[in-house]
Amino acid sequence: MPNHQEEEISLEPLLKEHLKQMAAWGEDAEINYLLGLDGITKYWERCADLLGQPNHRLWAIKTGQGCVIGEISLSQICWRVREAELRICIGNRAYWGRGLGKKALQAILIKAFDELKLKRVYLRVYHYNTRALKCYLRCGFKKEAVLRNRYRYGGQNRDIYLMYIDQRLFKAHLGKL
Ligand SMILES: CC(C)(COP(=O)(O)OP(=O)(O)OC[C@H]1O[C@@H](n2cnc3c(N)ncnc32)[C@H](O)[C@@H]1OP(=O)(O)O)[C@@H](O)C(=O)NCCC(=O)NCCS
Repeated sequence: MPNHQEEEISLEPLLKEHLKQMAAWGEDAEINYLLGLDGITKYWERCADLLGQPNHRLWAIKTGQGCVIGEISLSQICWRVREAELRICIGNRAYWGRGLGKKALQAILIKAFDELKLKRVYLRVYHYNTRALKCYLRCGFKKEAVLRNRYRYGGQNRDIYLMYIDQRLFKAHLGKL
């Protein structure tokens, strides 16, 4: 296995056959917790619903060895104001914390700004998802707002950070990635 710095990923349009591999991730309680899913709404079912819709674009995250390790998407694309919501899940947890999330985010932001000509990409992340938060900040996202008590989990209300990046911030950040 290559060392983490050299590990490469690519993004490939998500297909129905990828969803079979994603089915196992929906059984992972920690992933459901990090994504704020209740375990009934399965991650892969949600992706299946969005496939082929004009205002949603989904990609499989693939390693250099061709293994599908996750999914990344631009959803709720508003073509009029040119913005979209980003979601990412590396469902194979053996690949967490190896810098691959950062690489996938960089790749999708290039698509968002250079190919799709979006002006702004935003995301929502639970306050307790520190790995994701660090990864987003590292990629140049800024915290924009705190949505208080938006989700009830384990008997407690949880906050969500709304974060964003625009073309200008991304270009300014590219050299630091
Ligand atoms: C969030 C996610 C995409 C990040 O991808 P990744 O490849 O794991 O992240 P990276 O290795 O690129 O960066 C992780 C950052 O968190 C840090 N980190 C790693 N493990 C950590 C942990 N257990 N707790 C806190 N921070 C951690 C790393 O040091 C790195 O920060 P740095 O660049 O400042 O050193 C991925 O972990 C994932 O899909 N998790 C499950 C689903 C999820 O949470 N999705 C996001 C929902 S908003």
